[in-house]
This record gives sequence, C-alpha cells and structure tokens, in this order.
Amino acid sequence: MHRPLSATAEATSNIALVKYWGKRDVALNLPSTGSISVTLDALKTRTSVRFDAHLDADRITFPGHASAAGTARITRFLDLVRERAGIDLPAAVETENSFPTAAGLASSASGFAALAVACDAALGLGLSPSALSVLARRGSGSAARSIFGGYVEMDPGRAADGSDAFASPLAPAEQLPLALLVAVTARGAKSVGSTEGMQRTEATSPYFEGWTRQVPRDLEAMRAAIRAADLEQVGTLAEANCLRMHAAMLGATPPLLYWNATTVAVMQAVAELRSGGTGAWFTIDAGPQVKVVCAPSDAAEVARHLEAVPGVEEVLRAAPGPGARVVSEIAS
Ligand code: PMV
Repeated sequence: MHRPLSATAEATSNIALVKYWGKRDVALNLPSTGSISVTLDALKTRTSVRFDAHLDADRITFPGHASAAGTARITRFLDLVRERAGIDLPAAVETENSFPTAAGLASSASGFAALAVACDAALGLGLSPSALSVLARRGSGSAARSIFGGYVEMDPGRAADGSDAFASPLAPAEQLPLALLVAVTARGAKSVGSTEGMQRTEATSPYFEGWTRQVPRDLEAMRAAIRAADLEQVGTLAEANCLRMHAAMLGATPPLLYWNATTVAVMQAVAELRSGGTGAWFTIDAGPQVKVVCAPSDAAEVARHLEAVPGVEEVLRAAPGPGARVVSEIAS
C-alpha cells in the first residue's frame, strides 16, 4: 500500500557569538573548535518533507531559484537519512524562508535544522535532541546549533566518527535579552562558500593556528559573560572574536575579504554609537552583512543609525528565540 510519510518543521537562523571557522573532518563536517551562538526568533525556514514511493526521484522545491549545488547538497542529506532509516524512498522537499533568499543571508543553519527535524518526524526515527544536532551538522555545521533555542554551545567532539560533535543548550533565551539587527549591505552577493573558505584558510593562512588557539579562551570568556548576563561583555567578546576570524581569513591566499565598503561603514557606525554612549557591537560572518547586538531598549535608536549609513539596503530585527520544532506530522 502507498503510504506517504510526511512532516513539516520550522527552524530559525542563529548568529555565532564565538565563531566556527575550520573543519577537523570535511566529509563528516566536524569543526576544529567549539562555537557559541544565539538562536533567533526571526529568519525562519519552514520545510516539508514527504517520502513517497510514487515519486521517480527526489523533488526539491526552493522559493525563487534553486542552485544545482544546493539541490545536490539536500539530496546527499536525504541519502544519509535514508541510510539511517533503512529505506530507499524518494522524497519531495519544499522549503520556504521568512526572509528574502536573495538577500545573501545564510539560510543553511535554519534550512538543515528544519530538514533534520522534519525527516526525523516523517520517518518516526525518534532521534534525541543531540542526535538531531549530529544529523543537522552533516548538512551544515551551524545547523547543529539551530536545533536548540536561546544560547547554544557546539562541542567539536573528539571521536573520529563525529558522534560527540553536537550542540547543547547553554542558557535559555530569557537569560540575556538582546536585540540583533542585521544591516543588509548587498543583495545576492556571491561570496566564497564556507567550506571552501575554511579549507583555504586552514591550508594557507599563517593566522589559522592562532585562531584555533584563541577560540577556547573566547569560549570560556563568553560562557562566563552569558552566565553573568553581561551584555557589554558578550558584545565586546563577540566583536573581538569576529575580527580574529576575519584576520585569519584575510591571511589566506588568495585572501578572503568578505566585506564591502558599506560593511566597513557599518562597523564604523557601530563604533560611533559606542562613543556616543550607546552599547552596540557588531559581528560578521562569511558575507558582507553586519549583525549588530544591542539592548532591546536601544534597538530603535541603533536601527535608525544603521539605516542612515549610505549603502545599507535594509535593517532586519530579531531577538533570541526557540529551537527547531515540528509544526505538523502525518506519519503513518
Ligand atoms: O555552517 P556553515 O558551514 O555555513 O559555517 C558557518 C560559518 C560562520 O557563519 C562564518 C560562523 C558560524 O559559526 O556560524
């Protein structure tokens, strides 16, 4: 009998306060160092999956345009799930993002967290939260963190098979209320993808070693700052850690410069806010957008200041939010 196994899940993006940059194993997507992030309440992906014997092959639907590489990455992820479930059924995957995909905002964290949770529910795998994080990590390293809400720490693990490389909750969202503003400085920007960027940094940057040596210290300081609910310390550490990651990237051959002129103008605008007495700190990932952390009560003023920077296209606003969750399930 034909019995489609389907489920829909939602997950949101997360922003790393101590970044992940470097892999100890590329095939298994194992990070060289740990990372700490905050899962957001916005920048959401909703993914439906249906394993169905009536399909000839996997059918993957993205909003807007689908890149061949993006589709292949999802098929590889579905193969892992099928192997684990001991099935051979093709799947239909439909994905929707609450943010414009062409905005050059990372969607792999929310995307693979939502897909992992949807596949688990559709096939009734009953994976624990840690096992879901391990599975999401295979799609994208940062996705392992979006399984959980609030403040989250990723453990790089030591095992060669990656079974101990997963994220866990560090503190609930309420521990440290903050606003996260995303200054969009370019749309659809083509940059070097994170896997290629990490490999290039590791292989060629003389500063990569310094980066991996520093991260454990940054993790320890960040844990303490979150525990103390000290926003100024969290922001200061996040900004320093981001600059250290970009220093390692800039030392690569050819150099990885992810910033544009507006990125730098926003960094300067954040410094100006601070000189004027408003607490705001930036962090930047492998792209030109600038994420700014501030107190919720300062968010309107900070947003106005960022919007006034020439070249800023839009400022999006988010706060700490929940982890990935199933929103509907029709497994039979
Ligand atoms: O999850 P990936 O492979 O897209 O890598 C994420 C890398 C950074 O966004 C730059 C840092 C991080 O920890 O999210």
